[in-house]
Amino acid sequence: MKITGSIAEIRTIVQNARKEGKRIGFVPTMGYLHKGHLSLVEISKQHADFQVMSIFVNRIQFNDKKDFEDYPRDFERDFALAQSAGVHLMFTPDERDMYQNHLTYVEVESLSKYLCGATRPGHFRGVCTVVSKLFNIVLPDVSVFGRKDIQQALIIEKMVHDLNFPIQIITAPTIREEGGLAMSSRNKHLSHDERTRALSIHRGLLKAKSLIESGNRNTTEIKAVIQKEIEAAHPQKIDYIELVSYNSLHPIEKLDEKAILAVAAFFGNTRLIDNMLIHPCEGGFTCEL
Ligand code: PAF
Repeated sequence: MKITGSIAEIRTIVQNARKEGKRIGFVPTMGYLHKGHLSLVEISKQHADFQVMSIFVNRIQFNDKKDFEDYPRDFERDFALAQSAGVHLMFTPDERDMYQNHLTYVEVESLSKYLCGATRPGHFRGVCTVVSKLFNIVLPDVSVFGRKDIQQALIIEKMVHDLNFPIQIITAPTIREEGGLAMSSRNKHLSHDERTRALSIHRGLLKAKSLIESGNRNTTEIKAVIQKEIEAAHPQKIDYIELVSYNSLHPIEKLDEKAILAVAAFFGNTRLIDNMLIHPCEGGFTCEL
């Protein structure tokens, strides 16, 4: 695996791979890799021959300076994991090269207002800006994002469509730890007790799944079942529990279309997110965690 922070070198290596007839797959990350990230590479391999990964802790998507500073980092461990997953090229740009004298930002309106966008102002503007830059540097054919960050994946799909990036976006299933906690680099910050209590998020989603699949369409009741489960586990704070339209991310009052049930809650100082897709099917809805 070749590792470089040079934008020029990334361009040359990718260009050469393309000249050899290879399709380019790209997995952008902020590092501290876990099985979730590695599963994105596995999916990328099904669609592309040459795998590129980036590790860049993108300051401009953090609305909290301490959260940025505390974000876990371990490049040597990441390099070993990426190499064993089959990454050919690792891009580790320098913050100065990415943002010196930077005045241009990318924002996907409307979709960025809801869920995490409501409680983390500027977050998706930071994500879209860095992902646009990375796309323009790497020029991949396909890029894979995790479904745990469903709002991010939908916003990036919309950005790619609206700005005519010739890139296929793939959204990959959430990978879970034992007990159902969605894998996240932030899980590292959880104490043993917080981790055990955080499993309530998954349990709440499973209870909502049973309710929905047995025919309940009442958003208030569906959200209440999750709230009760999480509150019993004494979170520091529930940021949101929302049932939103899959297309607009706008909260819905009655379940009558493809939707997302999304949760964000703090256990200790760690903010965790998770979600479930709700698909209309013959005679009702099926839920996908
Ligand atoms: O999901 C992430 O790790 C980040 O938001 C991303 C897409 C790498 C942009 O910094």
